[in-house]
Amino acid sequence: MKPKVYITRKLSDDIIRYISNYCDVRMWQEEDTPVPREILKEEIKEIDGLFSLLTDSIDCYLIDQAKNLKVVSNMAVGYNNIDSDYAMKKGIAVTNTPGVLTETTADLTFALLMAAARRINEAEFFLRDGNWKTWSPMLLTGQDIYGATIGIIGLGRIGQAVARRARGFDMKVVYHNRRRLLDAEKTWNVEYKELEELLQVSDYICVMTPFTPETKDLISFNEFSLMKNNAILINTSRGGIVNEEALYEALVTKKIWGAGLDVFEEEPLNVDHPLLTLPNVVLTPHIGSASIQTRLKMAKLAADNMIDVLQGRDNRYVVND
Ligand code: DGY
Repeated sequence: MKPKVYITRKLSDDIIRYISNYCDVRMWQEEDTPVPREILKEEIKEIDGLFSLLTDSIDCYLIDQAKNLKVVSNMAVGYNNIDSDYAMKKGIAVTNTPGVLTETTADLTFALLMAAARRINEAEFFLRDGNWKTWSPMLLTGQDIYGATIGIIGLGRIGQAVARRARGFDMKVVYHNRRRLLDAEKTWNVEYKELEELLQVSDYICVMTPFTPETKDLISFNEFSLMKNNAILINTSRGGIVNEEALYEALVTKKIWGAGLDVFEEEPLNVDHPLLTLPNVVLTPHIGSASIQTRLKMAKLAADNMIDVLQGRDNRYVVND
């Protein structure tokens, strides 16, 4: 008998066919709405495998409903939506999808950096709104990217891919990480700094660290007070790492120059959120890994991770063993 699995969002027919070769599949049939918790609470009772997204909160209460669950396969590199320690206590493997989304997420990080620095969105609306009367010397002037210092907080895979892009733009790259990475320092010509110093010297600050209890509000009032007035903050990791109240204040008071954000404390971002009133912030709806090719690779990797565990094979993407 095939193991039973539940998929929390409608995936492409190809990937469903693939998973169905090995598993008995049930799936939430909507593409644009997360599965309601009440339904997931029922579905999880009998299944062996769960294919989840970052929008599903797989907490201890939900895990307690499961009788046969062996694996939660998250289609994301981040897995802060899952209580992976509790899952481990229950003998349930949690897997993620690192690697396949590294370059795509680094691209979006750099796109936000460039858009915020050169005021691309503001400039486009200026043009579309019919405000372009003439070329003028200081019209919509932004910040230089080449020659500037970028500070990367969290030099993991994606952080290193951002560093590589920054070197190509002739930027000076400094980084902060839980531990120094001597090989990466040599490979990418990047310099380690304590967090305070990184905040003081950087023109661009990229938050690339995972969201954990230790990194919650890592960038808050005190950290903004250390930044340069021309600093631009970019966050493509997780919203809770940057305190949004502190960020709003820093932007409104021009303590920093701008921001580019793909992630938020609460997603989706409320349309009444104060950040939406500011011209010096570029916002995207959590699309860091959203290229067609990468999303298909993530779905395939998450499927393979789930199938591996269900078939008793070793899987290198288990995060809680
Ligand atoms: C992740 O993988 O954690 C991203 O936030 C979505 O791709």
